[in-house]
Amino acid sequence: MQEELDNIYYTESDINLRVSELGEEITEAYKDYDEVTVISIINGALYFTVDILRNINIPIRLDCIRVSSYRNKSQPDKKPEIIDTIRLDLKDRHVLLIDDILDTGHTISLVYNHLKQRHPSSLLTCILLDKDRPRAVPFKADFIGFKIPDKFVVGYGLDYAERYRNLPCIGSLKTELLNPI
Ligand code: IMP
Ligand code: MG
Repeated sequence: MQEELDNIYYTESDINLRVSELGEEITEAYKDYDEVTVISIINGALYFTVDILRNINIPIRLDCIRVSSYRNKSQPDKKPEIIDTIRLDLKDRHVLLIDDILDTGHTISLVYNHLKQRHPSSLLTCILLDKDRPRAVPFKADFIGFKIPDKFVVGYGLDYAERYRNLPCIGSLKTELLNPI
């Protein structure tokens, strides 16, 4: 699968190292709380969420939220929608929202506002990749794994038409492979 990439930005060991550092940062930020409720935006944040939770040394509750996204294209839909919401109660809870990548900002803002309406005591965000591009919707994450150039990237949970999620590294797909299917 790696032959289909034209550039590798982060290797498996870069990712492992950064994820364990982030886990420490998050553990430190929440050290005075009894418990944190983690909400993961699936499918993209699956790999990142599992690995970061192994490095977070505080009690957690976990739930997932599913948002419609790219639908086989490498350009984001302008308006993502929540297609499956969470089951856990967030009122007066400390909540950490995890996503794979911040691109236009539409997805994270949609989910952030959706969770805010449930009156958590606090709501912080953790994003694996921060794409270097102007946001359509301004958004600043509290914890960031890596910066990435404005390219369509796959691997470590990120997909193109549901493929490439299981690549161990993060890289950009060759341009000739980026066609609607
Ligand atoms: P946004 O709504 O434009 O910020 O995009 C966020 C969502 O689009 C992410 O949760 C990803 O699922 C998807 N996405 C954005 N950029 C990429 C990319 O480069 N590769 C794969 N998926 C992406
Ligand atoms: Mg996706």
